[in-house]
Amino acid sequence: MCGIVGYLGEERAAPVLLDGLEKLEYRGYDSAGVALWQDKKIAVVRRKGRVCELVCARSLAGNAGVGHTRWATHGAPSERNAHPHRFGAVCLVHNGILENAAALKEECLARGEVFSSDTDSEVAAHLMNAFLAEESDLLRAVKRACELLSGSYAFAVLAEGREEIVCARMHSPLVVARGTDGVFAASDLCAVAAEGRSAYVLEDGEFARLTKEGAELFDSALRPVERTFFALAAQQAAPEKGSFAHFMRKEIEEVPSAIENTLSGLPDLLNSHLYEVLCQTEYLHIVACGTAYHSGLCMKAVVEKFARVPTQVFVASEYRYCDPIVPEHTLTVAISQSGETADTLAAAQLALERGSRLLAVTNVEHSSLNRLAQHVLPTRAGREVAVAATKSFNAQLAVLYSLAAALAAGRGRRVPSPAALAVLARETLCASGRVAAWTPYFQGARSVFFLGRGADRCAALEGSLKLKEISYLPSEGYAAGELKHGTLALVDGATPVVAVITDPQLADKTMNAVHEVYARGAAVFLVTPFEELCAAQEVTASVRIPRCEPAYSPILSVIPLQLLAYHVSLALGHDPDKPRNLAKSVTVE
Ligand code: F6R
Repeated sequence: MCGIVGYLGEERAAPVLLDGLEKLEYRGYDSAGVALWQDKKIAVVRRKGRVCELVCARSLAGNAGVGHTRWATHGAPSERNAHPHRFGAVCLVHNGILENAAALKEECLARGEVFSSDTDSEVAAHLMNAFLAEESDLLRAVKRACELLSGSYAFAVLAEGREEIVCARMHSPLVVARGTDGVFAASDLCAVAAEGRSAYVLEDGEFARLTKEGAELFDSALRPVERTFFALAAQQAAPEKGSFAHFMRKEIEEVPSAIENTLSGLPDLLNSHLYEVLCQTEYLHIVACGTAYHSGLCMKAVVEKFARVPTQVFVASEYRYCDPIVPEHTLTVAISQSGETADTLAAAQLALERGSRLLAVTNVEHSSLNRLAQHVLPTRAGREVAVAATKSFNAQLAVLYSLAAALAAGRGRRVPSPAALAVLARETLCASGRVAAWTPYFQGARSVFFLGRGADRCAALEGSLKLKEISYLPSEGYAAGELKHGTLALVDGATPVVAVITDPQLADKTMNAVHEVYARGAAVFLVTPFEELCAAQEVTASVRIPRCEPAYSPILSVIPLQLLAYHVSLALGHDPDKPRNLAKSVTVE
């Protein structure tokens, strides 16, 4: 979370920094700021709110600077807590969490230093300033400060009197880029991508120094190192909304092509090195967070049905502290759109340490998770900008179903091909437009339930997560059969219920739950391929989706649920692309 950017070159830095920050806003958007190096002095502009609040900084002079867009961890979203943070000669932007900041701050206070924010980050500026006074070398000062820090950081640091930017990375993403117009640093390639530039993703413990001469790299002992920079293309830059009002709406529209591109871009799993690993796999573990966790649940349903490989799905933030049992011949699949989620990375690292093989499923080619894993299967959803994950979920399922099919094939079992799913997703999208008419029932709701059994429960969980994150309505995804064991007490006329029913063998059972909630006054909305269920008197409105193998159905049934969340969010006057309190890439614990 938080986006940082740095630039030093021929151009005026302010527009470069502000354009970069706009592209990084998905990482946090509660306050923003820039610092510009002007005639050996540093000018700082900070604002509460979004990057657009920094419009007055665009005209500032200076050819070097750093910028930041914040997702608050320590200290409320406010101008005083906005980055850059300055102390003495040092001015920095930080992404991450400094876990020992409180103890270090005590030491600074004991020296009589005064703090001007409530952030953990400011303490780093105090430490670097103290070391700069001793070292007269910003790179060494930053390194010595980093040696005292625990937690995670990506820093870009300026100092008065020095035309350079020093960068450091530990457990938070940071790239440096070179172009004919200057040198750059950023949390994500999208902020610096352009034709003719090249980039390097810093490893943990590495440092970079950006000067007029270019970008120099250093290892953790500050020994200069040569690294290979890869070419950047304009396509890696952040996409535009086009004719859509919001990125989320555009990204839902892109679901079919995300599935199609992902399936067509997959290697032939049956003839790959991974196939040998799949044949030897006796246990499957999945680690992920949020929407990606729900993808994992969907995969479990398919793997256990067709490949009969025991599968456990772990919330990554729990896995890392539950002392997991990792039997021999375990394959751990770490699923992450960004490939930068701190909890997923830590869980993946632990799985490796416990002897598991590690396969990453991510949407970002140069992500930390891809670099950690022994095997990578990419989703080709294209860049996802809206904070709520949509097309990346469907693309993850395309990969995971293919993986499940290969696991099954390795055991001589036959599996229905997922090849037709992109076409079926296109049909589903056409049918789903009618959910816009459901919104009046949800606008005044006290809470919402999403029900399903088996794979439908996984879709229900994801539908519920989408709704709560962008509409702020209390919502729960629930196993349809479990409702009557207590939670039914919450259902009344102000509790719309969305039921997902795609498996003919479970349809009657889930309909029992529909009868139960209807009897308590709930309006029922149905997502199903079965016409006769849509006609039931209990059903207020429905979307008919195409039939497919029931275990695969979440890849389709989630589409109307994604759209429902979008429309309810709009009807309630929220910004579906940037829900409050959230950020797209959760790089802190
Ligand atoms: C929900 C959402 C989050 C992410 C979660 C994991 O819409 O976007 O729940 O799914 O933070 O992120 P990744 O997939 O990047 O690891």
